[in-house]
Amino acid sequence: MEKKVILSGIQATGDLHLGNYIGAMKNFVKMQEDYDCYYMIANLHALTVRRNPNELKQNALKVLATYIAVGIDPDKSTIFLQSQVHEHAELGWVLDCYTYMGELSRMTQYKDKSSKHADNINAGLFTYPSLMAGDILLYQADLVPTGEDQKQHVELTRDIAERFNKLYGETFKIPEPYIPKIGARIMGLQDPTSKMSKSSTLPNDTILLIDTPEEILKKVKKAVTDSEGIVKYDEKNKPGISNLMEIYGIINNKTMEEIEKEFEGEGYGTFKVAVAESIIKELDPFRKKYNELMANPKNLEEIYNKGAKKAQEVASKTLKDVYDKIGIIR
Ligand code: TRP
Repeated sequence: MEKKVILSGIQATGDLHLGNYIGAMKNFVKMQEDYDCYYMIANLHALTVRRNPNELKQNALKVLATYIAVGIDPDKSTIFLQSQVHEHAELGWVLDCYTYMGELSRMTQYKDKSSKHADNINAGLFTYPSLMAGDILLYQADLVPTGEDQKQHVELTRDIAERFNKLYGETFKIPEPYIPKIGARIMGLQDPTSKMSKSSTLPNDTILLIDTPEEILKKVKKAVTDSEGIVKYDEKNKPGISNLMEIYGIINNKTMEEIEKEFEGEGYGTFKVAVAESIIKELDPFRKKYNELMANPKNLEEIYNKGAKKAQEVASKTLKDVYDKIGIIR
């Protein structure tokens, strides 16, 4: 039986953090055994916000090195840069013409980002979801693992695909969003009511995967908690402690009840040190591998060129079918 296809992407916007790792990448690693996986670095999507060109290049390499250092094997999975497979930009344009303004203006991310970047509400920010639909549909993906925040975009992708199929006959596989139950929402350490994010402006809110053990310990020690002093899971009233418990639980494969037992009678100080040590231990091999990879850009170049070739073989077939069906001469 053919393996099911997975496609996911991460924007090339800099250093990745513990939330990306636990919420997304750890699952990506597991899934490569059972699925035919395409992991993309969305550097074209990154253009919707003004970027420094050198940083944009560097960030694409950083995400690539991160994928590999967390354990994604470029020989098992297809890891590639969106910009190297021109079919993405092409199908993105075609799908723009099959997506309604009304649908795009209902997207939460668009509303969010346009209020945050009020001085640069560009058309790309608006049509972002059609480019993303192209990413997914080019590979005939069955499943799209993402965070909760991207679910709406995957649902729109389904609508676009169904619309196209109805007009021109079976062309695209209708993809399903795949949102992992645990770990999908790792929250900030300083503001445990909002998702851990690379754009947080609060110092010590975000643990980067490349943070040193000292930095990790410092950040966890400063994490916001509550005054109760009991390690107990209560997302509503104890969001800080609950978030630390989730992190600890995922890394050590423990349930919330097990953690409550383990730290019964202990204060937050002891618990925080245990959390920090778990994170440090988990990320230590990552950081070493990552630094090795980043020190050898030639090797990274080989990996992304090979990935682009593999991706393009699949993407070009889908685009050809689309162009043939809608009457575009190639
Ligand atoms: N929009 C996604 C994000 O911001 C990144 C992305 C781009 C993506 N293309 C994709 C995710 C295709 C899944 C599938 O996180």
